[in-house]
Amino acid sequence: MPIQVEKLRIILYPDPRLRQRATPIDRFDDELARVAGRMIELMGVEEGVGLAAPQLGLSMRLFIAQPDRQAPPNAFVNPTLTLGDEEDVREEGCLSVPEVHVMIRRSIKAEISAMDLSGQPIKLSGEGFVARIWQHEFDHLEGRLITQRMSETERIENRKKLREMEREFEKARRK
Ligand code: NI
Repeated sequence: MPIQVEKLRIILYPDPRLRQRATPIDRFDDELARVAGRMIELMGVEEGVGLAAPQLGLSMRLFIAQPDRQAPPNAFVNPTLTLGDEEDVREEGCLSVPEVHVMIRRSIKAEISAMDLSGQPIKLSGEGFVARIWQHEFDHLEGRLITQRMSETERIENRKKLREMEREFEKARRK
């Protein structure tokens, strides 16, 4: 069934679609390009630096990253990451978990192998912010959210916000 691209919206915690492992992409067609276009549009509106297809409720191994707003975003299809040993801890947010910030330990350096929207292979090395974005977005493809990486203190600090989102989700589901 074709995807109604213009109807796609960013879905929020605790939508279970955010917790599913996404499916590899095997068609590099116009629909894939339109989905990526919609993701770039939604990310721009929210001033995000990355967005993964599962955040639109799509089980597709696709994410976009735009660490630098002056440069065009990159789209990565079926990505794999090779992580460096050295790690650091930085604060992260997520467009699917608004207003929640979590300190997360990640590799400082990463290499990404993927395909672009036309199926051509890409291989890039990144360090710092961009490597962190790739790891965060890759987590989305694996069904992992920042809420699962919270410390006990962060869980307590964000309890009200998370409960509120859980209530909103239940309310919308019952409609
Ligand atoms: Ni996210």
